[in-house]
Amino acid sequence: MAAASSKFPRFKSGIPGYDELIGGGFHKGTVNTITGSSGTGKTVFASQFIQYGIKNGERGMIITPSESSEYLKREMMASFGWDFSAMEDSRMLSIVDVTDPVLRLQKSIDVDPVDFLINFRKLVERKLEEIKPQRLFIDDLTAFFMAVEAPFKIRSLTDDLFGIIRSSGVTALVTIGTAFGTNQFLEYGADSATILSRERIGNNLIRSIYIMKMRGSRIANTIRVLDVSDDGISVSALSPYP
Ligand SMILES: Nc1ncnc2c1ncn2[C@@H]1O[C@H](COP(=O)(O)OP(=O)(O)OP(=O)(O)O)[C@@H](O)[C@H]1O
Ligand SMILES: [Mg+2]
Repeated sequence: MAAASSKFPRFKSGIPGYDELIGGGFHKGTVNTITGSSGTGKTVFASQFIQYGIKNGERGMIITPSESSEYLKREMMASFGWDFSAMEDSRMLSIVDVTDPVLRLQKSIDVDPVDFLINFRKLVERKLEEIKPQRLFIDDLTAFFMAVEAPFKIRSLTDDLFGIIRSSGVTALVTIGTAFGTNQFLEYGADSATILSRERIGNNLIRSIYIMKMRGSRIANTIRVLDVSDDGISVSALSPYP
């Protein structure tokens, strides 16, 4: 048991109650998707994973293709008191803002989405080599992939990107929105898939979470209540359906 766990180290998520659903944490060097519609807590979940790692001496990297980094920093500071700017200053955190003109990776209707994704993959590869983080968070990939129409192209672009991430040895969380139907392709290529949602119970909406898959692990086949508070996200022992 001890030999197995040292050969396949796990990364604690930093989300109270979550690791026990996936057999102890994320496998090192894997790509893990967090899927949900808008406002279900994807960005908070993955930010907490990064923040927890940094607190424990593991360097983090956040790539923000759709929201600007300033916005993310402000939101995490205001909601939970996580000071990403200070973490950047201490060089424990690198935030790569794809909208930064210096990177010249502009999303526009003039750029072929496939070319854009190939350039994006190269950027990720370069930054992982340069920074060598232990934890990576990409928020959110859906916006890029929605412009790619052919499913086989989405699959192979996903495989390329995820392959680069895995071979760097970093443990990654990738958030995925559900609005454009590309989420299945991204989940298919990932090592684990977690679904965040809201359940309607009477007149109330209850946040929920379940694990759709986790390669190489037993998972808890149950829906749990997800709590968001000033301390961040946590998974309750309760199910939304009593
Ligand atoms: N301190 C807090 N206490 C309770 N809930 C909070 C607190 N701060 C933020 N929230 C809630 O957390 C949610 C934020 O979710 P988050 O931004 O992670 O969603 P998302 O899934 O990334 O959405 P999108 O797809 O729009 O980016 C919001 O519903 C917000 O109301
Ligand atoms: Mg978000």
